Amino acid sequence: MKTSRIPGFYKMTVDERQELIKEMHPFSEQEKDEFFSISPLAIDTADNMIENVIGTFQLPLGLGLNFLINGKDYVVPMAIEEASVVASASHIAKIVRQAGGFTTEATGRVMIGQIQVVGCTDFYVAKEAIITEKENIIMAANTAYPSIVARGGGVEDLEVRILNGDSDSKYGQMLILHLYINTVDAMGANIINTMVESVAPLVEEITNGKVYLRILSNYADRSLARAHCIIPPELLETGGFSGEEVRDGIIHAFEFADSDPYRAVTHNKGIMNGIDPVVIATGNDWRAVEAGAHAYAARSGAYRSMTTWSKDQAGNLVGELELPMSVGTVGGATKVHPLAKMALNILDIKSAQELAQVIVAVGLAQNLGALKALVTDGIQKGHMALHSRSVAIAAGATGEMIDIVARELVETKQIRVGKAIELVEKYTK
Ligand code: MEV
Repeated sequence: MKTSRIPGFYKMTVDERQELIKEMHPFSEQEKDEFFSISPLAIDTADNMIENVIGTFQLPLGLGLNFLINGKDYVVPMAIEEASVVASASHIAKIVRQAGGFTTEATGRVMIGQIQVVGCTDFYVAKEAIITEKENIIMAANTAYPSIVARGGGVEDLEVRILNGDSDSKYGQMLILHLYINTVDAMGANIINTMVESVAPLVEEITNGKVYLRILSNYADRSLARAHCIIPPELLETGGFSGEEVRDGIIHAFEFADSDPYRAVTHNKGIMNGIDPVVIATGNDWRAVEAGAHAYAARSGAYRSMTTWSKDQAGNLVGELELPMSVGTVGGATKVHPLAKMALNILDIKSAQELAQVIVAVGLAQNLGALKALVTDGIQKGHMALHSRSVAIAAGATGEMIDIVARELVETKQIRVGKAIELVEKYTK
């Protein structure tokens, strides 16, 4: 069985890390050349993905280590520009694996397609007509995308609501249909949009109304993924802080975020620091995941913490994260971008639901990493050591000079490009 424990990985050179990953995974020679080339996404491929292409934009791709989820080891590819994120996720995953690892689960894989109908003479009559014709609409939608039905998915249900039904509503009445579509291992945007567009004429005929919008909902609250961890306080002990102190600080930090949107936004941004890099590395739509996650954080009517942290009767710290996770392992960029293919291969993921669960576990780890730092040393200490390297590079340092300049920036507590330029000049004289 593959392990995600690779002691000393951070001390290796990039070449050594690449060699190790090549040894650990059964890439073909062609894949090795493609994945580890200077520009894995060929310009011709990029030109076929979006419009007006003039180049490709690269991000650092690192590996989150030590993840043990439902008893399985995961090496987690993360594409991100921010220092400390990968290190922090790996640090927390190492703590959590000592406590038995993360447990995760996913609800069904059901995405939502919306159809908006306006102008009905009587919306209540139109609603009843939709209910009567429900099976025919479902059949028509499935006929529009037979390959997803052949893969075991397709439309599973249909619901209809009237919006702005009150006579004092400031907006016009409308009928909203939801098609609940099992997209199996696809994120499903194309499947859903094809289906809702294809049944729109039938819906107009049934309702005697006019259909305007036919589009998926990114509020994927029927594709939820949940991660959970239980950590004995002694594993949280750090520097001069006892495990109990750290645990209690984390619970206070959660209560702050859950009570105050100003804090909740930053707290949740820290969770997305873990989630987005995996979503990006696997070629998924991070805007869709972001939009759904923040809406879910506001489902009570107030914008709150995405995670919960509490203590159990034994005094252990208990963390939970549940989010809509509309990611896929087939379709979209997952099979077009060579690095997305590599990331899915490194993750050794078998289904979209498995990927969704890994992603929420990383989000939970990332939140714990941020809170643990915030309630102890603060985040600047760990952050600045790595940030100083970016500042040194921005000032023109290369090779060994990067380490020399970065170290001196930290020592002098002046992590500024101006200071770094001074140092580069000093050492290149
Ligand atoms: C920084 O990118 C993320 C944090 O601000 C998250 C948090 O405050 O919880 C450290």
